Amino acid sequence: MEPFMDKVTLGWARRIAEAELGESLPRRLVHSQGVAARAEELGRLLGTDANLLNAAAILHDVGYAPRLAITGFHPLDGARFLRDEHGADERLARLVANHSFALLEAEERGLREALATEFPLLDDPLLVDALVYCDMTTTPDGGRTTAQDRVAEIVGRYGADSVVGRFIRRAAPEIFSSVERVEAALAAQPR
Ligand SMILES: [Fe+2]
Repeated sequence: MEPFMDKVTLGWARRIAEAELGESLPRRLVHSQGVAARAEELGRLLGTDANLLNAAAILHDVGYAPRLAITGFHPLDGARFLRDEHGADERLARLVANHSFALLEAEERGLREALATEFPLLDDPLLVDALVYCDMTTTPDGGRTTAQDRVAEIVGRYGADSVVGRFIRRAAPEIFSSVERVEAALAAQPR
């Protein structure tokens, strides 16, 4: 298989994230950079998809940018933006669209059909798990955390009965399983 993304493309991804989030949502950008730093640590595990994971990590929350918030559901807004404005690789757009169990939040918002039709979940469980791991072990300020603390922080920030709060409580068992699978894969890696 051809390596999907080279270093140049990674620079492209970083520049898009900075351009869209840098001024309007600097904290989201710092979080995204932290998620990308986690992705870097998984490089050996992902092999030829390491840079794809890295690009998805830096761009996963780009849909929060005010000018891109069309539906208000950031995974879908971000993926459509990458596809339509940048002609992004399909796998990159599908990773962003589905990051961290977005399908469950799409259900809460009546957008499941749109998401699943336009951006089917990648048939690559390790890559999908890896992006969950990177996002869910990174604080809003880009620091390192546990998935348990991260979920608790999100519930506290949005409120347990908000759309996001309901979604994250439903997704929590899946999130923890994804993180455990990645940790197991890391532990099994030859040193
Ligand atoms: Fe997100």
